[in-house]
Amino acid sequence: MKILFVCLGNICRSPTAEAVLRGLAAREAPDLSVTVDSAGTANYHPGAAPDRRSQLVARRRAYDLSGLRARQVRAEDFERFDLILAMDQNNLRDLLAIAPAGAHGKIRLFLDYAPEQPLREVPDPYYGGPSGFEDVLALIEAAARGLLRRLQSQAPQS
Ligand code: 4NP
Repeated sequence: MKILFVCLGNICRSPTAEAVLRGLAAREAPDLSVTVDSAGTANYHPGAAPDRRSQLVARRRAYDLSGLRARQVRAEDFERFDLILAMDQNNLRDLLAIAPAGAHGKIRLFLDYAPEQPLREVPDPYYGGPSGFEDVLALIEAAARGLLRRLQSQAPQS
């Protein structure tokens, strides 16, 4: 299973989701075969490391974002990935606008995997204060756990 997380800049939300899903899968579902990547709908920060504030809150929970580098979504992503998960409605709309029609079925909102959460979108923390980054991490952890449960229930039994 190949999963791509998408936000606007690929320096806050989607790299956090990438590291959280990779970390949880390694810790809690080591037999699951899952490839994870992230990208931005915009090309604001190509090659940049994740925002320091995202790195800080993630590191406190043992997720390492330091090696990740920002990139923009590209056409081949729609072929390469099985599931493309948008952080908010703008990202979803922008992805659907550039994706071939045949790929629309694999594009969804990430928080679809956290139906117990009151929010449907992971809010953009970039211009806000530190608590926004904490909230983003908590939402992403909830949805990553929901996604992981779904993937485990779908995985072929060994
Ligand atoms: P992200 O946050 O989409 O979660 O990576 C943002 C990062 C950068 C900008 C906006 C949002 N920006 O305007 O540069």
